[in-house]
Amino acid sequence: MKPIQIAIDGPSGAGKSTMAKLLAKRLGIMYLDTGAMYRALALKAIRMNIDTRDRERILDILPDVNIEIKYVDGTQRIFLDGEDVSDKIRTDEVSMGASNVSAIPEVRQKLVALQQKIASNENVVMDGRDIGTHVLPNAQVKIFLTASVKERAKRRYTELKEKGLLTKTLEELEKEIEIRDYNDSNRAASPLKKADDAEVLDTSNLSIEQTIEAILKIMEAKGYNHAAL
Ligand code: DC
Repeated sequence: MKPIQIAIDGPSGAGKSTMAKLLAKRLGIMYLDTGAMYRALALKAIRMNIDTRDRERILDILPDVNIEIKYVDGTQRIFLDGEDVSDKIRTDEVSMGASNVSAIPEVRQKLVALQQKIASNENVVMDGRDIGTHVLPNAQVKIFLTASVKERAKRRYTELKEKGLLTKTLEELEKEIEIRDYNDSNRAASPLKKADDAEVLDTSNLSIEQTIEAILKIMEAKGYNHAAL
């Protein structure tokens, strides 16, 4: 049977990775967080004091960067040049840097090829910005997950507070989300865009469990009985 591919796209903070991770677990299939790859490259640039908007210098380091995904105890870990950087790529600085490097076409080419290679021959849930439109255009299930800017900023605020990492006001976080939305939606190379055949799911007023149920319903309507995977 052809492997099932589930593409989850949408703006920053809509809950894509939470949903994709849980869904993959529920279905017993692989989860691939593509944003982590752009983040790893951004981290490398930041460590080398390279401005993540400096295309020439990013292209200099691109051929030699080694990004690998490994599964440790069932969870995805991301390795940059052999170092596990899974936790180090979650800062705001890296978020903005990832948004910058992801606008460079050569960066996308390299990372998309890697994503497609990982997904070939495997059932997979992949989340990102261009999964349904570019990375897995033939994915059987495509979800465009979204939520209002206010709600996304609120979630980020709560998350940072819980981790003891809160250094910004809610308004500042809202502003950052707006900037990233703008960058991701307006870049020339594979901008964030709903695939024509994707289902839109607004999670502003949905709990995590309600969102998962809604995705499973969409799958069932397409004839994918999740229990049979
Ligand atoms: O999903 P995330 O926040 O970890 O993504 C970090 C950045 O990478 C985000 O600003 C957009 C970019 N990205 C992308 O362009 N394409 C993807 N498939 C995933 C992420």
